[in-house]
Amino acid sequence: MKSSLLNRVFDADAFEAQLQALGALIQNHLENVLSEKKDHVLRWNPPEKELEFWRSFMNSGDTNDFFPEILKRTTHTHHPKYIGHQVGVTAPLTVLTGMLSNLLNNGMAVYEMGMSPNAIERIIIERLGEKFGYGDKVGGFLTSGGTLANLTALLSARKAKVKHDVWNEGHTKPLAIMVCEEAHYCVDRAAKIMGLGEQGIVKVPAKADFTMDIEQMEVLYRETTEKGIQVFAIVGSAPSTATGAYDDLKSIGAFAQKNDIWFHVDGAHGVAAIFSEKYKGLLKGTELSDSIVLDGHKMMLMPTITTALVFKNKMHAEHTFSLNADYLLDQTTEDEWYNSGRRTFECTKTMMCLHWFALLKFYGEALFDEYVTRQYDLAKDFAQLLKNHPQFELGTEPMSNILCFRWIAKGVEDEQLSAINAQIRQQLLEEGEFYLVQTKLYGIQYLRTTLMNPFTELTHLEKLLHKITKLAEHIS
Ligand SMILES: Cc1ncc(COP(=O)(O)O)c(C=O)c1O
Repeated sequence: MKSSLLNRVFDADAFEAQLQALGALIQNHLENVLSEKKDHVLRWNPPEKELEFWRSFMNSGDTNDFFPEILKRTTHTHHPKYIGHQVGVTAPLTVLTGMLSNLLNNGMAVYEMGMSPNAIERIIIERLGEKFGYGDKVGGFLTSGGTLANLTALLSARKAKVKHDVWNEGHTKPLAIMVCEEAHYCVDRAAKIMGLGEQGIVKVPAKADFTMDIEQMEVLYRETTEKGIQVFAIVGSAPSTATGAYDDLKSIGAFAQKNDIWFHVDGAHGVAAIFSEKYKGLLKGTELSDSIVLDGHKMMLMPTITTALVFKNKMHAEHTFSLNADYLLDQTTEDEWYNSGRRTFECTKTMMCLHWFALLKFYGEALFDEYVTRQYDLAKDFAQLLKNHPQFELGTEPMSNILCFRWIAKGVEDEQLSAINAQIRQQLLEEGEFYLVQTKLYGIQYLRTTLMNPFTELTHLEKLLHKITKLAEHIS
């Protein structure tokens, strides 16, 4: 029996027409946004109004308007005035790899449902392992986001470093992980999900530059173990989220080795700097770590979600979710690298490896070198601009492309300045010409930028400061 609807949905000719129409729309969008013919990064709409729009569209909207409306009603990371969250500005090639992944829908859990992707994923992991100085036992996989990857790495750490069988018996003695207080909140969340409790996450204070205080790390470790709590892992940030500060990975690595603790690097944002000839020095010490997380969808020009979780020793990746208490692979056990689902949290996942492989194959590592170096350089230039301006204050010297600053005025107290800066940010959001975010440092409100867009120039940032000055005059 012929179903006219199903035939229509799967009609290849009709699809080609849709593809051409969307292709033209995307081409036009990219051109207009990159060249700033579109003068707004976003058109702000309050949540209730947006909901109302889409409810009404579902009832009576024209399908021809669906894609154009999506483009109109979203935030445009490709706009050079997009300087907000750490969201990747996608290389257009990845639109094509994403499209193919969606079409083929090979979930990758077992080899035959993802032959090429499983092979490709291994090549990506080995390439990253080489960059990190991990040696020939490297293993790992791509997974759905930095948050999930950090949790997975900590589960592997527990399996590797805790003597008793937590996976089957639950916790029989108190355990903890250590991390700088500046780390991304997902590390805290992972500890809670793992049932470590409040005492199971030891927050090491940060120094004035927002990096982990290494002396305090030693002190807190002693205090924690004296209480009978086993510290099985320490997490270094590369960099932390709010200020973009890189922890001293070398010192943390030496500490972890001395105390037989798992060393995990949360490099979701900035391990990409390993590709930068100029900035790779920030990552000295990765070779001492046991696992590293790197989001392709942050500083690698890839779409959401494309996280790599790399292990120095692939045996640990193999046994995170295994039922066996003994995590060590018998040397004779077959290394089933091609069945990705054994190692990952997900059963089904997208073919995210296509983005990684295509960018490396079509453009090479030079792309990431050029991009990361440019963005980190730009942050340094922006910092200089701010330091030269009497009405702005830098939160801290940027170590990456994340930079915090605030508008200031003589004689105005911090509390009032915080209120003014919060208002500035809200007005910028509602006007939509620029998009930046905010954070609190020492309880004080700062504006926060992540210079993600490869076409943002210093002149854009000069215009931003001019605009903020005008807004502040109006507000204060
Ligand atoms: C340092 C760091 N780790 C982890 C995450 C979470 O990554 P994801 O958003 O991919 O879950 C972020 C997100 O901003 C981050 O900055």
